[in-house]
Amino acid sequence: TLKVAVIGGGSSYTPELVDGFIQRREALPLAELRLVDVPEGREKVEIIAGLTRRMLDRAGMQARVSVHFDRRAALEGVDFVVSQFRVGGLDARALDERIPLKYGALGQETTGAGGFFKALRTIPVILDVCRDMEKVAPGAWLINFTNPAGILTEAVLRHSRVRVLGLCNNPINMTIAAANILGVEPSRVFLQFMGLNHLVWARVYLDGRDVTARVLEAMAPAAGTPANVAALPYDREFLLGMGYMPCPYHRYFYMLPEMLQKEIEAAGGQGTRAEVVKRTEAELFRKYSDPGLDVKPPELAKRGGAHYSEAAVSLIDAIANDRREVHAVNTRNNGALADLPGEAAVEVSALVGAHGAVPLTVGHLPPQLRGLLQHVKAYEELTIAAAVSGDPSLALQALAANPLVPSVAVAKQLWAEMSAAHARYLPQF
Ligand code: NAD
Ligand code: G6P
Ligand code: MN
Repeated sequence: TLKVAVIGGGSSYTPELVDGFIQRREALPLAELRLVDVPEGREKVEIIAGLTRRMLDRAGMQARVSVHFDRRAALEGVDFVVSQFRVGGLDARALDERIPLKYGALGQETTGAGGFFKALRTIPVILDVCRDMEKVAPGAWLINFTNPAGILTEAVLRHSRVRVLGLCNNPINMTIAAANILGVEPSRVFLQFMGLNHLVWARVYLDGRDVTARVLEAMAPAAGTPANVAALPYDREFLLGMGYMPCPYHRYFYMLPEMLQKEIEAAGGQGTRAEVVKRTEAELFRKYSDPGLDVKPPELAKRGGAHYSEAAVSLIDAIANDRREVHAVNTRNNGALADLPGEAAVEVSALVGAHGAVPLTVGHLPPQLRGLLQHVKAYEELTIAAAVSGDPSLALQALAANPLVPSVAVAKQLWAEMSAAHARYLPQF
């Protein structure tokens, strides 16, 4: 008798989540799925509700599916809240991606100046969700996919009493990639994750042996890279010397000029990622509307969030059934990464059960990882402080502290143009 609410129920990813619940129906008896959205999302969320009902029907599941625009009422008495919303939609994302290019800066959904503005738009809303949860679903878990997922998790940890875990599909993709390189089933490899969301590294073990170097030796450019990140090859010598498996997003830090060049080419050609995703999404919703469709369509794999349901539903299973399994989650550091503050959110392997997540201890990281890790975390901390306070001087400190923002002068230009472009979603400033 599990009651789950989805904030951003109209997301094209919802069928992925529903598919996950269908796969695990024995372990997780879903009683209710409440799809919560904003009035602008009405058309999408109604289509999603229809497809969801057909998928559950086909699987012989009785769960009640409902659509809600009154969030607080929808959250009453739920066990889990899955968060996957986008304040301002893909139009706001397209601005995040395009405006920085004018100033020679990277424009990306979750990193650089784009990710910064997405955080400023989203933090006030996720904290409102938490206030609703504190009132009407005090024991519930928040499983957060909304990006930037690591920053949002830390904002919730610092500013609410809600139990929260942040999730990303990259750790699963990296596990599959490492298993493919080693030529074994993913269940045979163990990746210990350490770092931040979209800045996570791993050590790779096979049958109890550390095989990280073997994986780095053979790491093909595309291995584990989601559809939204240009799969430029990492420098092999550099990787071997570093000694840790990087995540796909490390490219933005280790090869910034080349990644920026890719973005400039895309922006002048097929469009920025948001512009491409708009077309993919239109195609997906056309499919979803077909009353004959009652399964997750394969075209969903064109989105960057592949394998996201596996991460979400297996995590809910681990908590609901007290499985005490190791999952990669964003959670409170509590000393696991000795180079970061205890209250920071980190993306790490953790033991997950009904008690929540207890991170596996890593200790100190070597300097080649530590510098970037601390630099980005300091930026994240400033971003949360700026988003919560609405203080423009903190916003400038945060932007300037982002390693992907080239200078203070550029930070000021970005702030002027982007805060104006997003003004309706930044009421705190
Ligand atoms: P989307 O643009 O389709 O938005 C999803 C839904 O959110 C829409 O139906 C929209 O109407 C709704 N929404 C907007 N503002 C809302 C609000 N205030 N309250 C409730 N609903 C609201 O976005 P998408 O492409 O499906 O992505 C959703 C989110 O998930 C994004 O933040 C994206 O970055 C994130 N994401 C994260 C991962 C991960 O690895 N953590 C993977 C994929 C997507
Ligand atoms: C990756 C990331 C997500 C990101 C997504 C973008 O999987 O882990 O955090 O939101 O891709 O995908 P999209 O299809 O929206 O570009
Ligand atoms: Mn992610």
